[in-house]
Amino acid sequence: MYRTHTCGELTIKDTAKNVTLCGWVQKSRDLGGMTFVDLRDRYGITQLVFNMEADHELCGQARKLGREFVVQASGKVRERSNKNMKIPTGEIEIEVSRLVILNRSELPPFTIEEETDGGEELRMKYRYLDLRRSSVKNNILLRHKVSQEVRKYMDSIGFVEVETPVLIKSTPEGARDFVVPSRMQPGTFYALPQSPQTLKQLLMVAGFDKYFQIVKCFRDEDLRADRQPEFSQIDCEMSFVERDDILDTFEGLAKYLFRQIRGVEFNEPFNRLPYSEAMANYGSDKPDLRFGMKFKEITTTVKGHGFQVFDGAEYIGGICAEGCADYSRKQLDELTDFVKRPQIGAKGMVYLKCGADGLKSSADKFYPPEELKKWAAAINAKEGDLVLILAGERHKTLTALSELRLEMGNRLGLRKKDTFVPLWVVDFPLLEWDEETKRYYAMHHPFTSPKPEDIHLMESDPGKVRANAYDLVINGVEIGGGSIRIHDASVQKLMFKVLGFTDEEANLQFGFLLNAFKYGAPPHGGIAFGFDRWVAMFGGQDSIRDFIAFPKNNSGRDVMLDTPAEISDQQLNELMIEIKKKDK
Ligand code: AMO
Repeated sequence: MYRTHTCGELTIKDTAKNVTLCGWVQKSRDLGGMTFVDLRDRYGITQLVFNMEADHELCGQARKLGREFVVQASGKVRERSNKNMKIPTGEIEIEVSRLVILNRSELPPFTIEEETDGGEELRMKYRYLDLRRSSVKNNILLRHKVSQEVRKYMDSIGFVEVETPVLIKSTPEGARDFVVPSRMQPGTFYALPQSPQTLKQLLMVAGFDKYFQIVKCFRDEDLRADRQPEFSQIDCEMSFVERDDILDTFEGLAKYLFRQIRGVEFNEPFNRLPYSEAMANYGSDKPDLRFGMKFKEITTTVKGHGFQVFDGAEYIGGICAEGCADYSRKQLDELTDFVKRPQIGAKGMVYLKCGADGLKSSADKFYPPEELKKWAAAINAKEGDLVLILAGERHKTLTALSELRLEMGNRLGLRKKDTFVPLWVVDFPLLEWDEETKRYYAMHHPFTSPKPEDIHLMESDPGKVRANAYDLVINGVEIGGGSIRIHDASVQKLMFKVLGFTDEEANLQFGFLLNAFKYGAPPHGGIAFGFDRWVAMFGGQDSIRDFIAFPKNNSGRDVMLDTPAEISDQQLNELMIEIKKKDK
């Protein structure tokens, strides 16, 4: 038997027990007569103590232990004189009588402690060492707990977990596919699923009624803190349901997870906000509702005073930052620079300070005090408040104002990590116009059902059609999204037509699904949650990377495995793939 206990479980109650522990040497301190070693495993850290007087040879052995050596230590549990109340094992230590080195370690490339000296790239390269650090390890343990809770809850309400294949045909979710060449049919490719969308719909045709799966999805798209090329979804689908059945079911899951994982209770139903209102009030389809600062449109109030910035604008809107009238020139310049950053793209920012000594604006050359009063009234600003205004083309300005709102939320400490405000955003547009290719694309995917009352607009005014689609947004993060699907062949045909697919193209790409729908497709709908995002949110972080055991870096590389990598000429030949070598 290698060990009697783990490094995380012995406490004062175990005093005088003879125990054997195994683990990694986190650090050792040599204090002349005594040597102390912190022994670490997944469960915690226990202090080992070696006494020079009691056993000269053993203490000499302990002094030679290097960082990350794997050892087995046996001895007696005793109360520590110098207690560390920050850790559960901090009141005891093991007076070691036998030490076995199970394996040696080279000097690790960075310190494996909470405060590490390793940079991001180095820690990614040696991810298996970084995973020994408790913060990263705890994230992975949290992920495990969330997945267990998801399975428990979904099973309890009758959902069946079904695995779908990974080598499939392209599933459209708006990103590029990762593809895998076939050796047996040279020149042909499988696509890795961007989601199991079509397969879960086939499971509904098959009669499974309630399906879920915690599943890997693959998307070749630009990466961000909350995006990985390979990520996981809690993917779900149900038959014989309408939108509200789905929202109610998954609100249940969300509430259960918050209770089990974070001890947070939501007694009220989650708010539901139509997409159009989310855009008008917050400039975003995933508004962070931990704070207010709703937009107020003032286009008609402020136009027509010779101020070109406003007079030439399609949209003029502002937000009110309560109690910020005393912002300094420097602070306002910082905000102006913020909105002018290329990622945000505003041309400038106009402010209105509602000070005790009157109203002051960066545009007061054009607006006398009585006009400024109208601005303040339109935006509901009171004495002590600061109004920030952006103007320009409608959509761009709404988006820029949204970024400014979030920045102000950050500056004012209104986006607290331990406050959670969930929201259903509903009634998304069905289609998105793309200026470049001059055609409509499905905003969600081509199987999303239009709202029945809008179907008559499909051909005459497709941009106005709302989808029976919804997102779950928590604290400004899109945690999940889904829709009621089209199960009626004629509506699907119409959808493909609006998307510019010929019958042949639709059949080539989705024939398997359209064919299946000829054999009794039930009305159905579903949703998929970004599992990594949800876990990261429970863990209080924005980046999903540290909640994935072996993630990719920002360029989509796994620097530990050193991949993507070239493959041998033999493999290429077998696959009949010719690589165009880049000119040297
Ligand atoms: P959607 O494309 O909205 O819907 O994806 C669902 C959820 O998956 C998460 N997500 C990601 N997480 C990490 N990295 C990524 N690259 C990434 N892309 C998406 C988001 C998102 O809300 N088949 C549909 C669902 C359905 O209609 O049922 C789908 O995949 O949290």
